[in-house]
Amino acid sequence: MRICRYATAEQACRAAALILASQVIRKPDCVLGLATGSTPIPTYKELIRLYEEGLLDFSQVTSFNLDEYIGIPEEHPCSYHRFMRENLFDHVNIRPEATHVPNGNAEDMAAAAGAYDRAILEAGGIDVQVLGIGRNGHIGFNEPDDSFVYGCHVVQLTKSTIEANKRFFASEDEVPRQAVSLGIGSIMNARCVLLIATGVDKAKAVRDAVYGEIDPSVQASILRTHPNVFFLLDEGAASLL
Ligand code: GLP
Repeated sequence: MRICRYATAEQACRAAALILASQVIRKPDCVLGLATGSTPIPTYKELIRLYEEGLLDFSQVTSFNLDEYIGIPEEHPCSYHRFMRENLFDHVNIRPEATHVPNGNAEDMAAAAGAYDRAILEAGGIDVQVLGIGRNGHIGFNEPDDSFVYGCHVVQLTKSTIEANKRFFASEDEVPRQAVSLGIGSIMNARCVLLIATGVDKAKAVRDAVYGEIDPSVQASILRTHPNVFFLLDEGAASLL
């Protein structure tokens, strides 16, 4: 585990962008695992900037997103489909058909989740996985639990996550109660993992992930067993380390 501390959130996010950019340069047909949430927005801005400067070409890149809410349309302003289009996909030359976000409206969620895992395997697995972290230590939407779930699956969102994510919705009542998320197995299978955490709100989750027990009550703690994981932190997120 490599812990990289930066003075500002901007720097932590740009560092993540530089690792992603070097991956795209070294392996133009790479598979990127992407995350939503406010944390990686500056990372995506930097990737867009590098693309506009002519340094990056996404034409052969494939992407798989971590998660999606269940039961809101893809066009909903808070859907992760829309988030990715607005914050990255519409601004670079990635092929729309090479971008994947879990379907939160599938008739058979279990079948769709299994198909999502298989699609990642068929694409050759994820080269670099971007992660944020929830205040309760969740990654993707893998909430604190008594086990680590391997594959893509449906999750019940916790009160803490609903509370944290309500800022994006008109009211707390509108926040979906369920989501579909890549499992811990699929995240751990990525060849490289970048966990970006910024702000003092994330300090406890980061401390628990780095120093606590490796335990599903803090899902990010399992990342310590990954052979190639970077924690990219600003001063706030690193303040309890
Ligand atoms: C959501 C997402 C996570 C994200 C987390 C933190 O719950 N499912 O992937 O890491 O929020 O979000 P933020 O970066 O906005 O703090």
